[in-house]
Amino acid sequence: MHITIRSLTTAALLAGSLAFPMVQAHGGDLVDVSTLKPLGEKILDENPYRGDKEAIRIGASAYTQNCARCHGIQAVSGGMTPDLRDMPADKENDKIYMAVTLKGAARSGKVYMQPFKGTLSQEAIWAIRAYTDSRPKKE
Ligand code: HEC
Repeated sequence: MHITIRSLTTAALLAGSLAFPMVQAHGGDLVDVSTLKPLGEKILDENPYRGDKEAIRIGASAYTQNCARCHGIQAVSGGMTPDLRDMPADKENDKIYMAVTLKGAARSGKVYMQPFKGTLSQEAIWAIRAYTDSRPKKE
């Protein structure tokens, strides 16, 4: 059988899309936010869902899918990454939270956290923050 570079590339792409479905997704279609108030395109600088039960429910699942592997199960960090419960639930920290989540974090050319812009919707990102805010704080 003759295996071309092209078919190998296709196979690698297919394998990649199976292993990392997130990479293929865009527009935030991974997280169903249809039960939340739509927020539009403009990024808000304060969490409109703070304390909202439905946002916390959706945020819990979105957090588990997208953040828990680095920031810890149920928002409890093991110490290698910032514990997101440490960010006070106020407007100033909302802004930082949103900026970092959209942009990701990289230093000296090394990516510590991938950008979520284009992967998660604004609704999903604020729902995650509603969830981490709702978690009991550290002792
Ligand atoms: C691949 C691992 C990884 C994933 C996945 C990840 N993060 Fe991060 N995140 C990090 C690391 C590492 C840092 C610290 C970066 C630094 O020190 O510059 C960080 C920093 C942050 C910060 C800044 C915290 C602060 O106190 O300044 C926020 C906010 C944040 N992440 C939110 C999220 C959210 C929300 C998700 C899921 C949608 C997420 N992260 C997914 C690794 C990750």
